[in-house]
Amino acid sequence: MINDFEQAGNCNSNLYFDNAATSWPKPEAVYKAPEIQMRQGCGNPGRSGHTRTLEADRLVYRAREAVAGLFRVADPSRIIFALNATDALNIALKGCLGKGDHVLYTSMEHNSVLRPLGTLRRDGVITTTLIPCSETGFPDLDFLEEAYRADTRLLVINHASNVTGTIAPLQKMIQSAHRRGVMVLLDAAQTAGTIEIDTGALELDLLAFTGHKGLLGPTGTGGLYVKKGLNLKPLREGGTGSQSEIDLHPESMPERLEAGTLNNAGLAGLIEGLAFIEQTGIAAIREHEVEIRAYLYQQLQAISGIRLYGPADPGSASCIVSFTLDNTDCGEIGYILENNYGILCRTGLHCAPLAHKAIHTFPTGTVRLSPGYFTTRADIDYLTGALRDIAKLAAG
Ligand code: ALA
Repeated sequence: MINDFEQAGNCNSNLYFDNAATSWPKPEAVYKAPEIQMRQGCGNPGRSGHTRTLEADRLVYRAREAVAGLFRVADPSRIIFALNATDALNIALKGCLGKGDHVLYTSMEHNSVLRPLGTLRRDGVITTTLIPCSETGFPDLDFLEEAYRADTRLLVINHASNVTGTIAPLQKMIQSAHRRGVMVLLDAAQTAGTIEIDTGALELDLLAFTGHKGLLGPTGTGGLYVKKGLNLKPLREGGTGSQSEIDLHPESMPERLEAGTLNNAGLAGLIEGLAFIEQTGIAAIREHEVEIRAYLYQQLQAISGIRLYGPADPGSASCIVSFTLDNTDCGEIGYILENNYGILCRTGLHCAPLAHKAIHTFPTGTVRLSPGYFTTRADIDYLTGALRDIAKLAAG
């Protein structure tokens, strides 16, 4: 089939439909801020008293304040910075779980949750129960109600699936866990910056986020919100610039969970991503994404041979649509889209094997289209035109 397409299509465009992996484009200031920080700032926060160090200190504090503002966290010291959501989830899971704990998690979790839990389970530290999800990716709440045990310590919730976009019924799940005194860890990798998250109103215990997706920042940024009173065991220990005279890691936040020099250049970019979100408004970002996802879903529905996964209602999903095309390999579709049409997307299992089992696309996966705030209807028209060509050829 790839050969049939060698002469077809228009390779001049570069249409990006992979925002669920990393958002692009970024606001202009996000590109510029890291360079300015490295050229003019570049001190090491907290490590000495000279001008550049103090400037770097202020930069990190501004980043912490901006993230705290976004998630409605009153005390910015409860936000710690990490490399990305995977890193933050590792810090959360390995920091709060101990011998004998029981953990609940759903089929829609990413490997960033499945693998740390898998290791803790294999090593005999924890036991787990998987909450099954429907064909559209919604967790079975009746099953959840029956799954709690006396030793259940944590419920992990994927806010929105990176495969189908399905948004979990957050409030119901959190209330269900808290009624039993069980903590909740929210994986907001796919929603931070595009869907409102009020940690106070939700009474969240832990929230992991990444900077390079909805927050529109550079890769290598992300972090974790830790509720006041919750003391995690640090995953890493070392230099913090504070209490250097003692040979144990400081216990106060945020140093408790941050060791070594932070990604200051990345945080400078993240501040600009957050500023763009604040100026634009999360409500406006969400409104655009709901509208564009509805349009994409509707256009794809009209193409013969295409099968769609995830909720039809755009209000129940993040800005993701996954599909398969009858008798056609997903990887091949991705290849043709890029090479013949200049369209970029992600195909396969998306590091979420259990989600694909839930929607019955394991082990071959789906083609995932993830538009973003900067995607237009014209972009969708071009994409769906390409997919109509591909579907016609596939049908022979
Ligand atoms: N977790 C990211 C994705 O879904 C990388 O593509």
